Amino acid sequence: MINYFSGMDALYILLLAIIGAITLLFIILDPLWDITLSLRAILSPYLRTDFESDLVKKYGQWALVTGCTDGIGKEYAKQLANRGLNIVLVSRSPEKLSTVSQEIVRTFNVKTKVIVADFSKGAPIYEKIRLELGNLEIGILVNNVGSQYTFPMYVGEVPEKTVWDIINVNVAAVTMMTKMLIEDMKARKKGAIVNVSSGAELQPLPLMTLYAASKVYIRNFTRALQREYSNHGITIQHVSPMFVNTKMNDFSRRLRTTGWFVPNAESYAKYAVSTLGKLDHTTGYWTHGIQYFFVGMVPEWIRITIGHRLNKSLRKEYYSNQQPVQTNC
Ligand SMILES: NC(=O)c1ccc[n+]([C@@H]2O[C@H](COP(=O)([O-])OP(=O)(O)OC[C@H]3O[C@@H](n4cnc5c(N)ncnc54)[C@H](OP(=O)(O)O)[C@@H]3O)[C@@H](O)[C@H]2O)c1
Repeated sequence: MINYFSGMDALYILLLAIIGAITLLFIILDPLWDITLSLRAILSPYLRTDFESDLVKKYGQWALVTGCTDGIGKEYAKQLANRGLNIVLVSRSPEKLSTVSQEIVRTFNVKTKVIVADFSKGAPIYEKIRLELGNLEIGILVNNVGSQYTFPMYVGEVPEKTVWDIINVNVAAVTMMTKMLIEDMKARKKGAIVNVSSGAELQPLPLMTLYAASKVYIRNFTRALQREYSNHGITIQHVSPMFVNTKMNDFSRRLRTTGWFVPNAESYAKYAVSTLGKLDHTTGYWTHGIQYFFVGMVPEWIRITIGHRLNKSLRKEYYSNQQPVQTNC
């Protein structure tokens, strides 16, 4: 047999193979770790004798949900009430708050407390929330409230009010609500904080630039918080939904059509709440987990390109839906 490689060549090839294997390992390690955690979450109630699935026992009697009069927040509130928690409803629209509160009391036979707060107003609202909460012990805080553009836009087109809304609603609210309640949870050595981010955290997202950047803040804030507080008996959960059929996506008929990859808020929240206390990071829905896994495997520049194309097509769809309807009258 002819020997094509010298000893040195073989050494270089071996070295390249090792570098290749290590690189591959780093690429797939994150998604593999996520899968391992998901499996552990599904199996833990069966395998661990000390596993506590009763949320009231585990965290306390009251949950507070921000942005709870519609979409994901409303369904989170209902799912938590269904598990026996009393609910503090914090949102901006008094009439919608009253309707949701009545529905929860009637359906789940728990207590509610309503706090009217518009998070876009910034700093002054937190003192009001603190005062209205009084001595109520909040066991679960769901930082759900979020703000998005009315349709995909270039940064220069985004109205100044929307820019401040995104900073106040997406960045300040999660920070201030967490700061308000976390030390009490630490003192009680129990509690849960659920921070709703978005799959938009995965990469820069042209035409939703500010929204995606605000979600990167939530991601990093939550991940660091986990390290700071998880030794104090507090569950800190980072939730990253992909598309859910809610009014936030009113700019697109495609995203307002429920399907496998775009669940409605009720199915989404049912699944997401079932992961509380089991997973520190979740997309909150099984088909979103599949999407997140595959998106995470693709190099960032490709994700940016695909995200940009998708948003261009959603923008086009929005404009085409704005065309006046032709009539023969
Ligand atoms: N839907 C998706 O595809 C999707 C995907 C990824 C992540 N998310 C995230 O999931 C969370 C919930 O989104 P969603 O789709 O359920 O939104 P949504 O249907 O638009 O509902 C938002 C809720 O927040 C309230 N709200 C909005 N601005 C507020 C403000 N300034 N002050 C107080 N309350 C305010 C709304 O009140 P009103 O009822 O008065 O409007 C409503 O109850 C957000 O953080 C969002 O970024 C959503």
